[in-house]
Amino acid sequence: MRTHSASWRAAAVVASVLLVGSIAACGNSDTGSDGGTKDDGKITMGFSQVGAESGWRTANTISIKESATAAGVELKFDDAQQKQENQIKAIRNYIQQKVDVIAFSPVVESGWDTVLKEAKDAKIPVILTDRSVDSADKTLYKTFLGSDFVKEGRLAGEWLVEQKKTASGPVNIVELQGSTGAAPANDRKKGFAEAIAANPNLKVIASQTGDFTRAGGKQVMEQFLKANPKIDVLFAHNDDMGLGALEAITAAGKVPGKDITIITVDAVKDGMQALADGKFNFIAECSPLLGPQLMDLAKKVHAGETVPARIETEETTFTSAQAKEALPNRKY
Ligand code: AHR
Repeated sequence: MRTHSASWRAAAVVASVLLVGSIAACGNSDTGSDGGTKDDGKITMGFSQVGAESGWRTANTISIKESATAAGVELKFDDAQQKQENQIKAIRNYIQQKVDVIAFSPVVESGWDTVLKEAKDAKIPVILTDRSVDSADKTLYKTFLGSDFVKEGRLAGEWLVEQKKTASGPVNIVELQGSTGAAPANDRKKGFAEAIAANPNLKVIASQTGDFTRAGGKQVMEQFLKANPKIDVLFAHNDDMGLGALEAITAAGKVPGKDITIITVDAVKDGMQALADGKFNFIAECSPLLGPQLMDLAKKVHAGETVPARIETEETTFTSAQAKEALPNRKY
C-alpha cells in the first residue's frame, strides 16, 4: 500500500511537471529570446508604424504586412498617426501583451530611452526599422535596419554640385524638410548641406518642414514662391512633398524641371513618373521594402542569435532617363 502510494505520488509529480512544461510550450514565449523561455515557434511581433503620410509609408506598410504573412509571423500593427506619444502607448501595450519581438519606425529620433528600457526589462527584443533613435545606450535595441539618410542627402547635393559647376552667380535653393525631429529630415538636410558646401554659389535661401506630405509640400512651396522672386532649385526630402510643390510651381506660372530644378528622395512610382516626364530632375532612392529582412531578423533575435547592429538598405539614384527605364518594373 505504502509502495503503491509512493509510486502514485511520484507519477503525479512527473505528470504535473510535464503539464506545466507543455503549457509553457503552447503559448507564445513569455520572456522572448533573452529570457530563454521555450515556445511553439510561432512569433508574435508588435509593430508601431509612423503613420500614412506618404507613398513611401504606404509601400512600407504593405511590405511589412505581406512579409509577416509569408513568414508565418503573427503581426500586431499600430498606426501612430505621426505622434510619438501614440508610438510609446503602442509599445507599452505590446510589452503588456508579452509579444515576442517589438519593431518600430520612430517618428522622431529623441525621447525613447524610458520605453526602450521597459521593453528591455521585460526581456522583449526591439528592432528599429527605417528610422533610428539617438539613444546613447545601444543595448536598448538589437539592430537598426534602414537607409543611410545622410548619404541620400549627400548624393542629392553632389548631383547638384555637378550640374551647377559652371554657374557664375548665386544658385538659390529652397528646401522642403521632412517632419521636424525625424531622422530622415535631420540627416538628409545634413548630407545635402555638406555636399553643396563644395560650391559657394549654391545657397539654401529658405528651408522649412512640409511634414513629408503632399499637402505640406504644396503649402510651403506656395509661401517660398511668394517670398522669393528667384528660386533656381528645390530640394524636397521626399517625393510626396516634391509632388505637392509641383502644383504650387505650375500655379505660379513656372515650369517644374526647367525654371526650377527639382531634386527629391524616395523614388516611389509617382515620383519616378514625374522624373520620367521631366518635372523632377533627380531622385535619391530610399527603399521601403524592408519587410522580408525585418521578419528574418525577428526570427533570429527571437532564437537568441546575434545579428549585426546596423543593416543598411541597398539604394541607388535616378536621372530622368534611368527613371524611364526603371518605371515598368517598379514595385511601389
Ligand atoms: O523614413 C522614411 C521617410 O518617411 C520617407 O523618405 C518619407 O517619404 C517617409 O514619410
